[in-house]
Amino acid sequence: MHLLKSLAMSVVLATSTLAQSIVVDAPSAGANIPLASNLTVQTERHNSLSSSKELEVSVAIGYTVCDVDGGCGPSAQLLYNGPYTPTLHMPTHPDQPSFYQNFTFPSPFSAPGPVQLTVVHFFDVGASEDIPLVEALRVDFNIV
Ligand SMILES: *[C@@H]1O[C@H](CO)[C@@H](O)[C@H](O)[C@H]1NC(C)=O
Ligand SMILES: *[C@@H]1O[C@H](CO)[C@@H](O)[C@H](O)[C@H]1NC(C)=O
Repeated sequence: MHLLKSLAMSVVLATSTLAQSIVVDAPSAGANIPLASNLTVQTERHNSLSSSKELEVSVAIGYTVCDVDGGCGPSAQLLYNGPYTPTLHMPTHPDQPSFYQNFTFPSPFSAPGPVQLTVVHFFDVGASEDIPLVEALRVDFNIV
């Protein structure tokens, strides 16, 4: 019984590693974003063999304001919590992503400084039965 449980667990873990996750292309790590400009969060879904079995569910996007000396949070501000529906876009040059969704927000920041963005991705991977998975991505950038 215990063996079965741990076996099932390792299958879930293996699947989650194999299942192509999303990538946050914008803002890029270390980017300097002007305080007054809109914040665009570009979330790319990697095309992969497994992606055809991946059912998109939702994303939550939030941020925490950090101290210059590195500490972030503790309280995160939620910017978006809803469906994730990436679509195909024609890239204008080769290193641009093609399968993504942009989320654009009016600047939520009141002062320059380091910010940590968190994108939480909820999705299902299933062959015969759906396996709900969640992953979290973090990007550190600066408001200038
Ligand atoms: C921010 O986005 C809004 C709505 O899309 C647009 O009207 C506005 O010009 C943008 N502001 C900046 C500074 O880009
Ligand atoms: C999505 O956002 C990225 C980064 O800001 C930008 O390069 C791209 O043109 C945007 N795509 C669309 C369709 O607006």
